[in-house]
Amino acid sequence: MKPSVLLTRRLPQGVMDFLAERCDVTLFDEDRPIPPDRLLTEVKGKRGLIPMLTDRVDDAVLEAAGPDLAVVANYAVGYDNVDVEACTRRGVVVTNTPDVLTDATADIAWSLILAASRRVVEGDRLVRGGGAWAWAPQFLLGREVTGKTLGVVGFGRIGRAVARRAEGFGMRVLYHARAPRGDAGGAGWRSLEDLLAQADVVSVHLALTPETRHRFGAAEFRSMKPTAVFVNTSRGPVVDEAALAAVLRNGEIFAAGLDVYEREPEVHPDLLGLDNVVLAPHLGSATVETRTAMGLLAAENLVAVLDGKRPPTPVNPEVLG
Ligand code: DGY
Repeated sequence: MKPSVLLTRRLPQGVMDFLAERCDVTLFDEDRPIPPDRLLTEVKGKRGLIPMLTDRVDDAVLEAAGPDLAVVANYAVGYDNVDVEACTRRGVVVTNTPDVLTDATADIAWSLILAASRRVVEGDRLVRGGGAWAWAPQFLLGREVTGKTLGVVGFGRIGRAVARRAEGFGMRVLYHARAPRGDAGGAGWRSLEDLLAQADVVSVHLALTPETRHRFGAAEFRSMKPTAVFVNTSRGPVVDEAALAAVLRNGEIFAAGLDVYEREPEVHPDLLGLDNVVLAPHLGSATVETRTAMGLLAAENLVAVLDGKRPPTPVNPEVLG
């Protein structure tokens, strides 16, 4: 008999086929996140769960699932939506999808860096709006990134991939992590304070934890250069959106690009009216190739645990013994 698993959103067809061959899949097949009460009902008796980053997997979900639940294979690299401690306590393996989305997410960070620096979206709005415009020496001037200083905050896989891309723009790269790393390439470690004071572009790549919530607030934004561009593609709550909107409105930094939001999918209303912020709808990993690779990795993790094998990318390996 195939093990019963719950999948909370339809994934690319190759992933659906892989899962169908190996598992008895219950799919929440609607174009919206599974409602929390429905998750509680559907998870009952399942051996595996593949949740999305929009699903909160807490003690109540684990309790509703019952003792047969062996694995929560999160369809994301970030797993702040999963109560890992509660899973570990109950002997449930948690896995995530690192590596396969590194390049796609680094590319989105760079899309935002360039779009915000060169005012691409503001220009697009102007053209589409039918407003009068013509080439002029002082028209819609942005800021160059070439030869400037990039400050990467959080120097894991994605932060390092963003730093590597900066080489093509001849940039000096600084990074901030809890401690200097041996594998930093040409990048130099700085305290957060020094990095913010020196960087022309600040790109954030922090996991969301109680310590990183609102890591960027009024004080941090005011430590940046007035010409700085700020980009966040990690998790929304690391940024105080009201504080960011205030410094953008007052011209205390030049521009920003966000892919993630404090109360996603809501966006702080003060940001919506500003021209100097580019707002993307959490597109970091949104390519055909990456979403398929994420699905296959999540499915491989799930199947490995259900087969009694070591999954490729566990988050709480201590449960595996
Ligand atoms: C992740 O995997 O954490 C990304 O945010 C998904 O896009």
